[in-house]
Amino acid sequence: MPLILMENIIRNFVNGQVTTEVLKGVSLNVEKGEYLSIMGPSGSGKSTLLNLIGLLDLPTSGNYLLDGTPVTSLNDDDLAATRNRVLGFVFQTFHLLKNLNALQNVALPMIYRGMEKTEREILAREALALVGLSERETHFPSQLSGGEQQRVAIARAIVGKPQVLLADEPTGALDSKNSVNIMEIFTRLNKEQGLTIIQVTHDLGVAYYGQRIIFLADGEISKIETVSNEQRQMGEQSLDDGRINSEQAAGGISNG
Ligand SMILES: Nc1ncnc2c1ncn2[C@@H]1O[C@H](COP(=O)(O)OP(=O)(O)OP(=O)(O)O)[C@@H](O)[C@H]1O
Ligand SMILES: [Mg+2]
Repeated sequence: MPLILMENIIRNFVNGQVTTEVLKGVSLNVEKGEYLSIMGPSGSGKSTLLNLIGLLDLPTSGNYLLDGTPVTSLNDDDLAATRNRVLGFVFQTFHLLKNLNALQNVALPMIYRGMEKTEREILAREALALVGLSERETHFPSQLSGGEQQRVAIARAIVGKPQVLLADEPTGALDSKNSVNIMEIFTRLNKEQGLTIIQVTHDLGVAYYGQRIIFLADGEISKIETVSNEQRQMGEQSLDDGRINSEQAAGGISNG
């Protein structure tokens, strides 16, 4: 059985007299250990779908089984517990708490598991090491670059060893160099920890880091593509070209 099984998911939003159909019957399987990308025009329903997968929202109708459990059978406490234990979230704008340092931000989700401080900090240190930020434990968000803040956010998302990492435009606020860095971390977590990853992106180069790409158009899946080795290399190349271009531009400014 797939880790995520969605059948004919419909999500309508009702505002007064107006009903907006945002997802119009999405069916989707995601296997344990997959790395999936979701692409599509603005407004096509990508974040809505990711929020449903992440139990931040519930469908108007349709079936969603997460690891065999129908999500409609879960009460609010079960939903919150599942979000905390099974799912990790990364957003475009990192959502770190500015009054907590990196270590405290990463350890935060473990408070909700009733874990002691020492134990929380051991796990947080491990997670920060996985994203290469052991040297930044005591830095506050304002003392970190955008790329570093996103890495702290990833560490926070994986500190509880979730089964699925959900990322909504994780590189949307980053330059090419930091995007490559984040994609390399995702690839490593997927390959080495077996973490299932679902990422929404507008950048085809980023999407090619996944094994499959789901294309959404107007609330429906219009195409599912398996990423070839060639495409994967093209993705890396396009992010790297972006990095080289921006470095040359920066060089041009400082030299001129
Ligand atoms: N709570 C809501 N009430 C009404 N309409 C909503 C609500 N949330 C989303 N929508 C509508 O659903 C559609 C899809 O929104 P969604 O945020 O999923 O798009 P998206 O594909 O993530 O776009 P983007 O690439 O701009 O992030 C949009 O037209 C949006 O206005
Ligand atoms: Mg969105």
